[in-house]
Amino acid sequence: MSRILLAGHGNVGKAFHELLLEEAPRLAALLGEAPKVVGVLRRSGAWLDENGVGVGATLLSRRQSLSVVDALDKVRPDVFVELTTSNLQTGEPGASYIRAALERGIPVVTANKGPLLRHYESLTTLAKRKGVPLRFEGTVAGSIPTLNLHEFTLVGNPVTRFDGILNGTSNYILTRMAEEGLAFADALKEAQELGYAEADPTSDVGGHDAAAKLVILANHVLGVPLSFEDVQREGIERISAAAIRLAAKEGYAIRLIATADAATRQASVAPRLVPVDSSLNVRGSLNVVRFATAHAGSFTISGKGAGGRETATAVLSDVIHVLRGRTT
Ligand SMILES: NC(=O)c1ccc[n+]([C@@H]2O[C@H](COP(=O)([O-])OP(=O)(O)OC[C@H]3O[C@@H](n4cnc5c(N)ncnc54)[C@H](OP(=O)(O)O)[C@@H]3O)[C@@H](O)[C@H]2O)c1
Repeated sequence: MSRILLAGHGNVGKAFHELLLEEAPRLAALLGEAPKVVGVLRRSGAWLDENGVGVGATLLSRRQSLSVVDALDKVRPDVFVELTTSNLQTGEPGASYIRAALERGIPVVTANKGPLLRHYESLTTLAKRKGVPLRFEGTVAGSIPTLNLHEFTLVGNPVTRFDGILNGTSNYILTRMAEEGLAFADALKEAQELGYAEADPTSDVGGHDAAAKLVILANHVLGVPLSFEDVQREGIERISAAAIRLAAKEGYAIRLIATADAATRQASVAPRLVPVDSSLNVRGSLNVVRFATAHAGSFTISGKGAGGRETATAVLSDVIHVLRGRTT
């Protein structure tokens, strides 16, 4: 039986744990035996059980005081799933946890943007040097396959550029401004009340979150070693309802578009005019990515870019890839 050590048991961690239990029969058919979570690590402690740690009340009864690094040594899992809080400035604590697992030859799956944003080169190099998988589909656009689409499906057709909407909160706000004529502040307030936006919305509306995803996508898909500071970034805070109305009269929508180009090495996140009938003009909190490819034109993929369960599907898909031994 494959054993999983899970760091972080919040929205995504818990959803991944539940999904693993729900999908157990299918996973058993795919992998021979369904994998089990044998350890859960949170800020507040560690829960270890070789028979499988429960998601709910049973979890809370057997708390141990154990650091993540000590738990890696004690458990020696088949996969370490890292879903702790993201820090876009330092990448910590995720970066240290991921490094500790890779150093020990333990495969890693994460949805945490911070470590890949700040330490893409060193972490992927370490994984290669150790011959250990490091997978991070969930870091970009939640449930939408972007990194894995490139890595598996488009392996014979390189991506040369991408344009997309990588932040659902700002797209929700722009959609509500366009469809209801709301002012930015009112649309933001509504997004906060519905749980789409954080109490501090800077990262979403200022384009930081989209820029972080763009950097990971550009490094992985385009092979361009961009850093966060290389991205020209402008948020949606100054977009007015009047500007949106004017654009609509001319047949355009205003969308926060993330763009990176392999040839020019230019990358930006900024409000752009998008023809209303463009595949990039998705509504509400959806995300979308249009890939331009070297040999087959461009195509677009869209879907749910965030949410605990949605992101957990990307994490589970990476775990399955690791356990099938598809990549190293
Ligand atoms: N939510 C989404 O829609 C989404 C989408 C894509 C990617 N992600 C990424 O997925 C990750 C998890 O997000 P989330 O929404 O599940 O966050 P969350 O609900 O805030 O949960 C974070 C978890 O990390 C644990 N944690 C924090 N610091 C820790 C430390 N130093 N050591 C061990 N555990 C620690 C917390 O422990 P306690 O329970 O003890 O507080 C908590 O269980 C983040 O990196 C996020 O950026 C989230």
